[in-house]
Amino acid sequence: MRRKVTVIGCGNVGATVAMRLAEKELADVVLIDILENVPAGKALDLSEAAPIEKHDCKITGVSNDYSEAKDSDIVIITAGIPRKPGMSRDDLLSTNMVIMKSVVEKIALVAPNTILIIVSNPLDAMCHVAYEVSKFPKKKILGMAGVLDSARFRTFIAMELNVSIENTHAFVLGGHGDSMVPLPRYSTVAGIPITELMPSERIEALVERTRNGGAEIVGLLKTGSAYYAPASAAVEMAEAILKDKKKILPCAAYLEGEYGIKNLFMGVPVKLGAKGIEEIIEIELSPDEERSLRGSADAVQQLVNDLNRLKM
Ligand code: NAI
Ligand code: 2OP
Repeated sequence: MRRKVTVIGCGNVGATVAMRLAEKELADVVLIDILENVPAGKALDLSEAAPIEKHDCKITGVSNDYSEAKDSDIVIITAGIPRKPGMSRDDLLSTNMVIMKSVVEKIALVAPNTILIIVSNPLDAMCHVAYEVSKFPKKKILGMAGVLDSARFRTFIAMELNVSIENTHAFVLGGHGDSMVPLPRYSTVAGIPITELMPSERIEALVERTRNGGAEIVGLLKTGSAYYAPASAAVEMAEAILKDKKKILPCAAYLEGEYGIKNLFMGVPVKLGAKGIEEIIEIELSPDEERSLRGSADAVQQLVNDLNRLKM
């Protein structure tokens, strides 16, 4: 049976997600946006690439017609405004909260059994909105951030050591903000922790560049934020679910006591398979790492408090 992934928001991230899903032949894709004609135009343009890219995925684009999302295996939500220079992800909170709420209400009606992958920022807070509004089980709501932040860390490690990106592995946990927690002890090259491969000042520099990875791109693009790597990250998560891979990836998940954190979405390693989040993996943290994760949880909690003040 053909699989179906709906992508809400067909801007930079959403359209690139659709392209990567189709080119990997993972699923038929439905693009939904509030804009008139644009989703249909992007879907047609992507469909016309299919003969050259050699895939048979059906790509449909509609404006506000959620009936097309019926029976989606996964819904990836990228709707919302992105950052401009000088803005933090948190500056997007009130606008994107309203957008997330309206999108999730409609999706919950037409695709009540789907799995939601949230991309819109501020990520952890938007997962919280999706969870509250959809009332879906927590294993079916996950946020994309850790895969992207870890990919950025891997890129900088490979550049620094002049090694193949394929030899690198990295874990970045915590919230998707300035307080994210890159974990050098769990970041490796060919299985060797980077703490054995470079001096601590260099590791600290790469950690800092990873924390600023989103802002670095915003500063260069000026008109919006990153989308190629974010799209790849969301598609890696979707692929793990569609192929029931049981792949361990850092994703925002609803924590109920894991890592000593309660009732918050935070980036932690999870096992992704056909049911969504099939397990939250608790790795051992040093006292310093634990303190950083708690600090990140405090920053996410602050955003959730702001959401509550905005009377979501
Ligand atoms: P964009 O501006 O290119 O696209 C956003 C799209 O959402 C637009 O086409 C817009 O018309 C649509 N939209 C707005 N309200 C809508 C609604 N109510 N229903 C359906 N569609 C709606 O922005 P871009 O670059 O694609 O980013 C999208 C979001 O993803 C932003 O909030 C951005 O901050 C976030 N993001 C998150 C990342 C992460 O690591 N979690 C990485 C990159 C982006
Ligand atoms: C990023 O990290 C904007 O959150 C997005 O690039």
